[in-house]
Amino acid sequence: MKKFKGNILVVDDEKSMREILEIFLRSEGYAVAVAENGEKAIDAVKKDIFDLIITDMKMPRVSGLELLKNVKQIASDTIVVIITAFGTTDSAVEAMKLGAYDYIQKPFQLDNIRLVVKNALDKQKLQKDVSLLKQQLKPPSLENIIGKSQSMQTLFSVISKTAESNASVLITGESGTGKELVAKAIHSLSPRKDNHFVAVNCAAIPEGLLESELFGYMKGAFTGAASSKQGLFELANDGTLFLDEIGEMPMSLQAKLLRVIEGDTFRRVGGVSDLNVDVRIISATNKDLQEMIEQKLFREDLYFRLNVLSVKIPPLRERRDDISLLVEHFLKKFAGDRKRFSQEAIELLRNYRWKGNVRELENIIERTVLLCDSEIIDAEHLPDEISSARKAEKVTLPSGGMDIDKLMEETEKAYILKALEKTNGVKTEAAKLLNLTFRSFRHKLKKYGIDRKIITD
Ligand SMILES: Nc1ncnc2c1ncn2[C@@H]1O[C@H](COP(=O)(O)OP(=O)(O)OP(=O)(O)O)[C@@H](O)[C@H]1O
Ligand SMILES: [Mg+2]
Repeated sequence: MKKFKGNILVVDDEKSMREILEIFLRSEGYAVAVAENGEKAIDAVKKDIFDLIITDMKMPRVSGLELLKNVKQIASDTIVVIITAFGTTDSAVEAMKLGAYDYIQKPFQLDNIRLVVKNALDKQKLQKDVSLLKQQLKPPSLENIIGKSQSMQTLFSVISKTAESNASVLITGESGTGKELVAKAIHSLSPRKDNHFVAVNCAAIPEGLLESELFGYMKGAFTGAASSKQGLFELANDGTLFLDEIGEMPMSLQAKLLRVIEGDTFRRVGGVSDLNVDVRIISATNKDLQEMIEQKLFREDLYFRLNVLSVKIPPLRERRDDISLLVEHFLKKFAGDRKRFSQEAIELLRNYRWKGNVRELENIIERTVLLCDSEIIDAEHLPDEISSARKAEKVTLPSGGMDIDKLMEETEKAYILKALEKTNGVKTEAAKLLNLTFRSFRHKLKKYGIDRKIITD
């Protein structure tokens, strides 16, 4: 795999100068293009992406200064370094004001060029790093993944092994099982840990925008593309690209993604040249991709490319041993040492079906901590859907069988009468107590023929 070190454009009307710079910069490991005048340079900038441009100041028709102005409009991220003849410092100063990164005076030493170019590109990378760092917290590693069950122990060792490799990984698991957490752990345990982890949720980006988000675009590639922009593939260079909800990726884009993975090169939207990247791809889905393949909704060839290594996260209900540990973890997160759960509450949490997996557990604990005033969180403080399991345990079925509809009606009627008694017969108040709309409350009164005498409107 080729390493993408930087794309440089050399602009000079003097052939020998172009050649010297071209040969020298190539030998330094950069990709180099040349232009013999300002017009051609502007054309090149419109078509291709350059990290840096070295241009002579004095050229016929379009000067270095003019070129600089154009570049700042077309591709504002591109660095411009100006070469000036001895004694023209004034225009060099003007160039700096217009956004040139630096200027070099003729005659120059190649060492000087090397230094200026390297510093400029390092600085550019640093700026990108800083803006990315602001967006993302440090990726967590294994310590953040809670679990002591056998299946989680197995998962931990799979994660560690996966991290050592450079192959694509497909993470599968139901919603809320921790797929993103695992993807971050793999990255932060891998040799790529000091480079970017770039996450993209394929379901959250509209189909029409996904391609330009992933691959970037050139100025003018479509309406609204006012300047060229890097895509997430470029941002993830030397790091990891996390394609979340890969099952949502449209077929048309699946073909493009496959080409990138196969060749390690891609083009920006509207671009004409190929870019090289070294990106490790981790993808995740809660969909059954095999089934999608059968339904012709997912490409089989892409599936094989993404699923070189597979990591399966079991649902929470299949590893109930982890629940009390997770409860403790989230309780600490949301309440510190201020609260604890009663044994009965923990039992209920252990037995619940957890369709939303760890995310649901986390949300419920956050909510419960917020709403419960006492130090001990008991069964009654848990949401109905969890505590109702306790009610179910307490009832017994009569030996002679029963009429459940009749029992429900009787219970309903009893509660309605109780509510009316409590509110001195004020219907609107009683409806509120029972969490019913006034309309449906009135309907029920009619149904049960509740005595009009006790009711006032
Ligand atoms: N084993 C775990 N230990 C601690 N926290 C966990 C664990 N698994 C999941 N979480 C937490 O649960 C929440 C959901 O995790 P995550 O977003 O990684 O799940 P996901 O599988 O990507 O979900 P979805 O399919 O809905 O995108 C996060 O807040 C995460 O920190
Ligand atoms: Mg997710």
